[in-house]
Amino acid sequence: MNEIDSALQELHEAILDSPKFLRAVLSGRRRNMDVAHERIDIRPVEIKKNIMAQMTYSDGRAMTTKNYLPDELPFLELAQSGYANILVETTSETLALRFSKKGQPLLTRGKSEGQQILSHDRKKERLLDSSDAFLREVGISDKSGSIKPSMMDKYLQVEEFLRLLVPTLNEAMSAGHVRIPTSENPLKIVDLGCGHAYLTFAAHQYLQAHQIPVKVIGIDVRESSRVRNNQIAQKLGIESSIEFFAEEIASASVEEADVAIALHACDTATDDAIAWAVNRNVPLALFAPCCHHDIQAQIKIAPEPWALITRHGIMRERLGDLITDSLRIQLMKLQGYRVEAIEFIGGVHTPRNLMIRAVKTGAQPTADDESQYRSMIELWGVKPVLEGKLNR
Ligand SMILES: C[S@@+](CC[C@H](N)C(=O)[O-])C[C@H]1O[C@@H](n2cnc3c(N)ncnc32)[C@H](O)[C@@H]1O
Repeated sequence: MNEIDSALQELHEAILDSPKFLRAVLSGRRRNMDVAHERIDIRPVEIKKNIMAQMTYSDGRAMTTKNYLPDELPFLELAQSGYANILVETTSETLALRFSKKGQPLLTRGKSEGQQILSHDRKKERLLDSSDAFLREVGISDKSGSIKPSMMDKYLQVEEFLRLLVPTLNEAMSAGHVRIPTSENPLKIVDLGCGHAYLTFAAHQYLQAHQIPVKVIGIDVRESSRVRNNQIAQKLGIESSIEFFAEEIASASVEEADVAIALHACDTATDDAIAWAVNRNVPLALFAPCCHHDIQAQIKIAPEPWALITRHGIMRERLGDLITDSLRIQLMKLQGYRVEAIEFIGGVHTPRNLMIRAVKTGAQPTADDESQYRSMIELWGVKPVLEGKLNR
């Protein structure tokens, strides 16, 4: 049996271990391969006293759900169809299989402590209890512990951000890209452009609840945010492990971090956040950019035939966003990061729902990577502000 077959076999056995299986996710596309669905989720459900494997995927408009007897689930067929990432979580471990660009399989293992929920139509598991004191203090919940209707989107954005942060972090730790923290040397997380610190406090509380020792730092240019957020930290009695500074991201005094995060840091503040992380070799970065004006403003004349798109305001704006983020991603790649663009939350909760997820692997960029970047900026006649901020 070759390496790929034996890794897939192991994943398949974990799925077939019905009392322990929690979920599987197939996502991403291997080079030069095409997959039928962008992402497939599989989880166990109890239907008429039988444990079935429920498979869900979307065609971009509607979700399709199919239930299989576990040994009839076409897992191996799906897994061999071209997905780049296959994750299987059981009650005791997380198995993550990733294919390199050259098609090499890399299977990593991490611990898991999840519990099986077998209800057929279960609601999405909430990560943050709406009555948690920190949610009241930051203003997401009201006095009775209910999420304020006006804050529901922010609450969901924060929760979905955490839903990605934790497995990404576990995977990066088990692959050796991020060090394993200890209580003497906790994981240092810096939230850049933290504002009212909804995400900052949530990351602190959630990771601590999962026994991950953390030191969290929030940076925002506004002094009022610093004062308010430090007061909340004191009120919650957590000021020894969470701290806020009123500083420009570009000149932030914090020297290093294990993880950098940013949620909707405005316009080029996202470029400051990327540059801050890249210039300090921060091993893991998750950034959800906000509005994009830099490249939009530089595009004076679109190269033909792209005027077909740029003559329409809304399409011009979306294309500008895509060009901006693709150049950001390429610049990070040129600095030794493995970078993905993913949707971190459904578009109804924010139109700014793209996340740049980057792990410093130290992979050497190829000459093609550099020339693709150059061709793109020459084609559009732009110079991304990020380029000037990186110590290249
Ligand atoms: C749209 S808010 C998002 C706040 C928070 N991350 C959230 O999701 O609720 C952007 C924040 O970035 C801060 N900001 C913008 N540019 C900045 C810069 N160059 N340095 C530090 N903070 C900045 C603003 O003061 C604001 O609080």
